[in-house]
Amino acid sequence: MNTSSSELRLFRTLKAPLSVQIEVTENCNHRCTHCYNYWKKGDKCIFENMTFATAKKVADEVINSQVFGVTLTGGEPFLNFDVTMYLVNRFKEAGIQVSINSNLTLITPSIIDELKEANVLGILTSILGDNEEVHDKITCTKGSFLRLLEALEMCKEKNFPVSANMVVTRENLDTIENVAKIVNDYGCVDFTFTIALQPECDIDNSDRYLSVEELKVLFNRSLKVTKRFLYGARCLIEAPYCFLCELDEPSAYQITSCGAGTSSCVIGSNGNVRDCPLNSEIYGNLCLEPLKTIWLRMDKWRTTELIPDDCLSCKLLGECFGGCRRQSYVASHLSSFKANNPMMVKANEDKAFALLQENNLTQTNDVILGNQIQFEFDNMRTEDFGGVVVNGDRRIFLDEEAYNFISSVLSDHKYAISDIGYEYEDFLKSLVFMGFAKTNN
Ligand SMILES: C[S@@+](CC[C@H](N)C(=O)[O-])C[C@H]1O[C@@H](n2cnc3c(N)ncnc32)[C@H](O)[C@@H]1O
Ligand code: SF4
Ligand code: SF4
Repeated sequence: MNTSSSELRLFRTLKAPLSVQIEVTENCNHRCTHCYNYWKKGDKCIFENMTFATAKKVADEVINSQVFGVTLTGGEPFLNFDVTMYLVNRFKEAGIQVSINSNLTLITPSIIDELKEANVLGILTSILGDNEEVHDKITCTKGSFLRLLEALEMCKEKNFPVSANMVVTRENLDTIENVAKIVNDYGCVDFTFTIALQPECDIDNSDRYLSVEELKVLFNRSLKVTKRFLYGARCLIEAPYCFLCELDEPSAYQITSCGAGTSSCVIGSNGNVRDCPLNSEIYGNLCLEPLKTIWLRMDKWRTTELIPDDCLSCKLLGECFGGCRRQSYVASHLSSFKANNPMMVKANEDKAFALLQENNLTQTNDVILGNQIQFEFDNMRTEDFGGVVVNGDRRIFLDEEAYNFISSVLSDHKYAISDIGYEYEDFLKSLVFMGFAKTNN
């Protein structure tokens, strides 16, 4: 499974993932038409819950590997409530940040209290339309829309953060602006959308999934939403940079990047480890082998091995990486992850490069240091090359000297620059620039 030597390395090999998704169950009380959860077994089979024995092994491995953040997902995680809460509490004790993906059907005020007590950061929920007819048709579950609104109200009352994600197909494309209004009214802290990626189990139903032209409509609508509400225009699936140039206002779009196999992975309910929630390749099982051993087998994600040939000469390769590999795989009729992303517009390469430069105009040198500096970080761990430091969803990779410096200072403590030494000025400016320190300029 190791990468051949002809491939170029695009990402450093971390000793373990920085974040993981754990599927605590394959069971679900909905049957969303686009859901990838079913490719594993098909509708007639029995879906598995993660057992306590597997959950214990998974928690031990994740904690020992110094993973920073965990998302508990499924299926519907609250259908396996005791195991979900066991994991939540194990990670709380270990200081690992936890969030949950849930359809919210089973949430109650007392569960919200338990989650708050356990420091759960929040829930990402799926909303699939602006009315009962559209949402319930997609979930194949009557009453699911009204139940979702009830749950959103409950979370709002308890001041528990919910982010809403809309998976978009032809069935709900026209509702995105109204959906944004609803989630705004219900106090959701974030609103994102996801291109529905055709799962194996639904491979014969291409009619449901958006064409590239419709995707452009979707992205442009999300930009309009940004103007009306405080949410950014953001798709949870990474889009090729050259596609973004086709949009009405590309610079207003918030770019997301995928960490599959480079900084994140997925742990299935039986302990099997995969690169991405939608992909089926299994790299090992946590009940049999350490996470760190399995993680090293995902090397192809860190090199050019899965990058389309047409992207290899692109000036943006190091930022864009050719767009979502799963989307390419589906577009190539499940034949190759290396296929061109269907949204790619290679002719826009120069335009996309100019846009990126325009958006990156601020430089480290523009930072002016005052006489004090306050460092801001949540967590850190050593790596072969030095270490990685995180602050919220920001990450920096540091060489040994820089890492040793950061590990010697306290977060949220004010230091006089003269005490640190002016020889560190450029480094301190770069920390301020990247959001890992504040200065009193
Ligand atoms: C599988 S669900 C599990 C958690 C929970 N049941 C829920 O629906 O939020 C996790 C996330 O994957 C998204 N999802 C499911 N199928 C998808 C697909 N084919 N393409 C893109 N996202 C998908 C869901 O909308 C949800 O945000
Ligand atoms: S609620 Fe979540 S897991 Fe269940 S079918 Fe829908 S997307 Fe899939
Ligand atoms: S040509 Fe490839 S690497 Fe370049 S911007 Fe387009 S998708 Fe990204």
